[in-house]
Formats: sequence, structure tokens, C-alpha cells
Amino acid sequence: MRAVEIIEKKRDKQELTQAEINFFVEGFCHGEIPDYQASAWAMAVLLNGMTPHETTNLTLAMANSGDQLDLSEVVPIAVDKHSTGGVGDKTTLVVAPVVAACGLAVGKMSGRGLGFSGGTLDKMESIPGYRTDLSTQEFMHQLAEIGIVLTGQTADLAPADGKLYALRDVTGTVPSMPLIASSVMSKKIAAGAQAIVLDVKLGNGAFMQTEQEARKLARRMVHIATLADRKAVALLSDMNQPLGQAVGNALEVKEAIQTLHGRGPQDFHEHCLVVSSHMLILGGVVENEEQGRQKAENALETGQAWEMFKRLVAAQGGDLSYVEEPERLPAARLVEDQPAPRTAYISAINARIVGETAVVLGAGREKKGDAIDHGVGIEVLHKVGERVEKGQPLLRIHARDRASLELAQERLLKAYHWSEEAVEALPLFYGVVKPEQT
Ligand code: URA
Repeated sequence: MRAVEIIEKKRDKQELTQAEINFFVEGFCHGEIPDYQASAWAMAVLLNGMTPHETTNLTLAMANSGDQLDLSEVVPIAVDKHSTGGVGDKTTLVVAPVVAACGLAVGKMSGRGLGFSGGTLDKMESIPGYRTDLSTQEFMHQLAEIGIVLTGQTADLAPADGKLYALRDVTGTVPSMPLIASSVMSKKIAAGAQAIVLDVKLGNGAFMQTEQEARKLARRMVHIATLADRKAVALLSDMNQPLGQAVGNALEVKEAIQTLHGRGPQDFHEHCLVVSSHMLILGGVVENEEQGRQKAENALETGQAWEMFKRLVAAQGGDLSYVEEPERLPAARLVEDQPAPRTAYISAINARIVGETAVVLGAGREKKGDAIDHGVGIEVLHKVGERVEKGQPLLRIHARDRASLELAQERLLKAYHWSEEAVEALPLFYGVVKPEQT
């Protein structure tokens, strides 16, 4: 078998066999297939798609490219969640401690920023000392000890996805349904979670723009989970504007801390309650969404979720003084408000432009391996449906220098659309996909 023939076959819209997919994934993972061939192949997949059968085979090949954890050795049931990527999506930082505080173990391996969408690891690394490189042994030990882990994918779990993920980030091959489905599900299968809540984002700031595409991705992932004998449910959630207000690493950690204290933005708070309640249902702690919400609210109100967050940070070497006094977290040198250009209702905010602008400010990577600036970012002070007065602060930009601040100002104004007529607020969710619907 030759890599070039497999690339040509996909280029010519043919279905790859399981043997071909295994050959390509193994070859790439072991360095026998170079990045340029893997990039060409990923682009062919993006352009021509994959059948459900190919997607399942790709997922299993990537999950089998390294070790597979069996978490039932350490906890009765571990629940995980995964977002397909969005702007301002700091949900994991809140729901993981909320759910763990409700007595359900959360063992989560997260990723870094991908294209215009942020990554949980980059956010958590805003906390000095916080380690995102736990070994498998450390992962298992911490899960058993405190019931919560939030780390990076270890090199020995789904290593093929780790390599491909970094390559896709810089080759324009992220928004592909089969590549996203296999990337997410290979990690989840390898990391051993028995129950998985998938947060499938849709809209202008998501990789899936339409409800139809997002539903298809959700179905495919839930189906793969079922084949792999895992419980899964997918939520279709809105990404037609950033989630919450903060976009940028340390800014998002601060917003997550506020939310853990019950003082977060209303949309983000609500989003976290819904995701937490589905995790609690899948983990068998509650029977329905209402009970899940109540339990999650209670974990927030009693401070148990906040205590759990601190235990997590301390367990992974983070300096607690920074989360106790979040104003000490990395901050940008320049912070300036951007005034609203007119008096009107906000009819749309292009979250993708906001995410891309955060990358321009230094919050994300332009190319593989770039260093990021944890302090920079954007605060979106008003959301779709709100009426603002001309001159009122619309956004707050955190930049490291004047040039990037001015560039951000110019770009961000293009993200806003206006209406003289009243505009409805956007929904947070568009539905739930369960195994019986796949
Ligand atoms: N999250 C992932 O883990 N992989 C993707 O491809 C996109 C989002």
C-alpha cells in the first residue's frame, strides 16, 4: 500500500477500506507518512467527505493508535463532556467542578485552541503552575483521589489524533464533519469515559454553520459512541455569538471563576446548568433535566463547585493564589473600550470574527507551536437583541500593543449587525440527539 494512492482515492471521491485507513493512520502516527501527505489527505477528506463506515473506521484507528484507559478500575462511572469548538466556550471550567461536586467523577482530556476557537488547555495554563501534561498514571490516581481531572491528551492516548489535530489547525482542514467526529470520539474512547455529553456548536462561530450539519455531526458521534459501548447524548448549542462575555484565555478563566461564584453572565450560567444536568443524567445521579439543574445550582450556591475547582487547580500544581485573586492572572498592557457606532438593536454578532480577532491579538496560534499570550482578548459587553446607545461601551479590548489594538477595533466593528427594529435574543440550544435518534 502507498500513501499517495490512498490520497488519490479520496481525492477521486472513493470510499477507503478499513485496511487503507489503518495503514494511513498508523503510518502518519509513526512518522512514516509525512505531514505534507497527511495534509493533502485531510484536505481531500474535507472536500469529499467520508461515509459513516469510513468515519467509524477512522475513529477506531485513531483510538487504537495508543493506549486505552479503563476507568472502571478506579471509579464506578466517569463522565466526560466535549465541545466541538466555539468562541468564548469556557464551559468545561465550570461544569467539570459542578458535576464532580455532585459526586460524579469527571475525567477530562481537553485540547488546545484550534483555528479561531479557543482550547481548554490554553485557558487553564493561564494559571501559573497548572500542569496539563499528566501521565496516564497520574490521571488515574487523581481521578480516584479527588474525582476530577482536567488535563491534556497524554502522548500515549489517541496519538494519531494529537498529531492530526495540530496539523489541521494550520492547514485549513478543521471544519470537516468526519474529521471532527473521529477526532472527538477517538479521544473519548481512548480516555475511557463511560458516559459522554457532546456539546455540538452551530452557527457562525462554530465549525458547523447550520443546524442540519450540526445535527448530522451529532448523530454520527452518538452513533460511534454507541458502537463503542459508551453512553452518549449530544446537545446542539448556539454559537451565533460568543458564549458569555469573555474571549481570551485568562479573561475566560476569570469569567469561569465568577460563574462558579454565581456571578457569571446569564447565558453562560444557563448553558452550564443544562450541560451539567445532562452529565448528571448520563452518570445516573439524577433522573431528569430539572433534577439535574437543581443539583447543579445547589453545587454552585453552596460553594461546593468552587471548592472542587480549587482542589483541581491545587492537585495539578496550579498556584491557588491566582484563582483566589483572579486580578493577578495574566493581563494585557492595554485595555480599551470600543464605543457603539450607533443607537440600535444588535441583530447579529459574527462570533467567528470575534474569535479570529482574539487570535490576531495573540490569544491563539497562527501556526503550529506558536506561543500564545494568555492576557489578551475581548469582552463582548452586549449581545444579540440588546439595544445600545451610540458611544456606549460595546466591547472591551485587551491588547499587548497599540498596533494590535487598532487592528482589533477595525475588525470587531465588522462583526456587528444592527437593526432599528427590536430583535429577539438568540436561543441557547436547538435540541438534543439521543442514541435512539441515530
Ligand atoms: N474538537 C476536537 O477534539 N477535534 C476537532 O476536530 C474539533 C473540535
